[in-house]
Amino acid sequence: MSQGFRGEVVDFYHRYRRGYPDAVVRRLVDAFALGPDDTVADVGCGTGQLTLALSGRVGAVIGLDPEADMLARARAEAGEHGVTNALWLLGGDTDMPALHAAVGDGGLACVTIAQALHWMDHETLFARLPPLLRPGGGVAVVTNGLPLWQQDTPWSRALNGALAEWVGHPLTARCGTDEKSRRAYRTALADAGFTVRTRTVAYTDELSMEQLVGGVYSAMSADLLPAPDRRPALTESLTRAVEAHAPFVEEVRVHLLLATLIHEGHT
Ligand SMILES: C[S@@+](CC[C@H](N)C(=O)[O-])C[C@H]1O[C@@H](n2cnc3c(N)ncnc32)[C@H](O)[C@@H]1O
Repeated sequence: MSQGFRGEVVDFYHRYRRGYPDAVVRRLVDAFALGPDDTVADVGCGTGQLTLALSGRVGAVIGLDPEADMLARARAEAGEHGVTNALWLLGGDTDMPALHAAVGDGGLACVTIAQALHWMDHETLFARLPPLLRPGGGVAVVTNGLPLWQQDTPWSRALNGALAEWVGHPLTARCGTDEKSRRAYRTALADAGFTVRTRTVAYTDELSMEQLVGGVYSAMSADLLPAPDRRPALTESLTRAVEAHAPFVEEVRVHLLLATLIHEGHT
């Protein structure tokens, strides 16, 4: 079922959604000893934020996403940056048997799921991944900081209030970024036979008003995104709510669950 990552939302997503700092890529490379002989699959790749960041460090990347518009943007971005080792597949978490058939036993060094696991049946997904992974390979579950309206700052609380008023209900969803979800993912990975380590990459960023409002639009489904003629009113009400709280500084904490498979005879 579509989660609404289509149409104009894709442009907002591509333009305003946080990317991943190089420190995140380095953690992945180190955790799974990634190199030029390796293929990595990024499930729920979106517009390729993590897929493309990894593409320069491995032999090939495969980005899977059920939203054709997201994939088309990722593919265009790869072309614009001269990336020639990325393959974009329309599919999702339920397509692991087909991916296994395509890459063969141990055909992947790593499967990444970045800011997307909350849309998936994670227990079934994790249980299906071991045969696809090479020795020393593994799964990385990445969450990319708290949503803009869920942070512990005056500007974020003001944004939350204005948005809640606009949608007509409190905004509580954490999109898998909260500790409880991360604990559940960790337990499910262990149940599927993985040894799990956690790492955090933290950094501070300052957002412009445009980035703040664009970031909000990037998180809306296509059905929720206001029509272009209604956008100025929402932009104005968000701007009015937060402007007294500038500068918009955020502490971003990228959490990684790094799950390694211990194959028989291999440690
Ligand atoms: C918030 S975006 C994350 C995109 C990117 N990985 C990132 O880190 O920015 C979530 C993505 O998950 C995708 N998605 C939703 N349901 C999915 C599923 N069942 N299997 C795989 N991807 C899914 C959406 O289409 C969307 O592109």
